[in-house]
Amino acid sequence: MSTIVELLDVVMDFETSSLGRKQKVRAVDRVSLRINKGEIYGLVGESGSGKSTLGRVSLRLYKPVKGKVIFENKDITYLPERVIRPLRREMQLIPQDPYGAINPAQTIGEALIEPLQVHFNTSKEEAFNRACRALEEVGLIPPEDFMDRRPMELSGGQLQRAVIARAMILRPKYIVADEPTSNLDASIRTSVIKLLLDFREKYDQSILFITHDIALLSLIANRIGVMYLAQLVEEGSVEQVIKEPLHPYTKALLSAIPLISSQIGLEKVYLKGEIGDPANPPRGCRLHPRCPLVLEECKSREPPLIEVGNGRSVKCWLYYK
Ligand SMILES: Nc1ncnc2c1ncn2[C@@H]1O[C@H](COP(=O)(O)OP(=O)(O)OP(=O)(O)O)[C@@H](O)[C@H]1O
Ligand SMILES: [Mg+2]
Repeated sequence: MSTIVELLDVVMDFETSSLGRKQKVRAVDRVSLRINKGEIYGLVGESGSGKSTLGRVSLRLYKPVKGKVIFENKDITYLPERVIRPLRREMQLIPQDPYGAINPAQTIGEALIEPLQVHFNTSKEEAFNRACRALEEVGLIPPEDFMDRRPMELSGGQLQRAVIARAMILRPKYIVADEPTSNLDASIRTSVIKLLLDFREKYDQSILFITHDIALLSLIANRIGVMYLAQLVEEGSVEQVIKEPLHPYTKALLSAIPLISSQIGLEKVYLKGEIGDPANPPRGCRLHPRCPLVLEECKSREPPLIEVGNGRSVKCWLYYK
């Protein structure tokens, strides 16, 4: 199976200031992962675990402080923007908040025409026609009704469709869908997910799908990566991770979903307290203060990501032999 995107030992830091004091947040800490061509890789984890940051690093919208980003066998980690630009049309982000995604002063038509002119130098007339077709493709019909409207004049669901149309108009090979339905009403979420799946099928795209919702991933993903406090703590095929979760954190996520936990006979796993502070993560295993299965060594030594066979790995001392 060939790879579209590979991240190797990626580290990403942000400087923040709290009460006038500067501090460093390591949002992504030594994460490696591979996204195969044509697959949906589901990335799940609590708020603040570093999912969006990792997604943006994979698109080289952020330059990591360490590690490598490989796109179609090409190391793009340190390429200057001018060299990356032609690759940008092949990799697109569908962000969480559609209202922040399109410039509020632009019409939907302008937002769709612009990338065509920037990347393909398409004539105005041709770009207009392609924008109309792109709107039709996402179900905004008749497209002429939407071309002149501004983002605030669309419902959340319509706008997310327009954002998807803008990302897809360039026919990208790799998409990062960052919680694309979390701001939408439950009633329209399914149709937006279906739209993304239809595009993937039609244009043979690869998707990094970011979500809090592991139950959704059980339905749409090929492989799953679980993040906790900036680190990848478990990875495997969807069947493996959902039917036989290994990491106590993954077990806790799944045991909170009655339909899945009853199917796989998983007992409720309770985590103590809240997710830790990414600026000051716990020593040893980052889950240890919350973990019901904590061992003595978890408190002082960080477990490696242990390969347990069949492409599965887990970052937990319970599996260290
Ligand atoms: N631009 C930024 N500047 C400063 N800190 C940031 C920035 N982006 C992310 N962070 C910090 O990095 C950490 C990881 O954030 P990130 O947004 O990647 O998490 P997430 O898993 O996507 O969370 P959510 O599920 O809430 O979207 C957090 O502590 C966050 O505050
Ligand atoms: Mg996020």
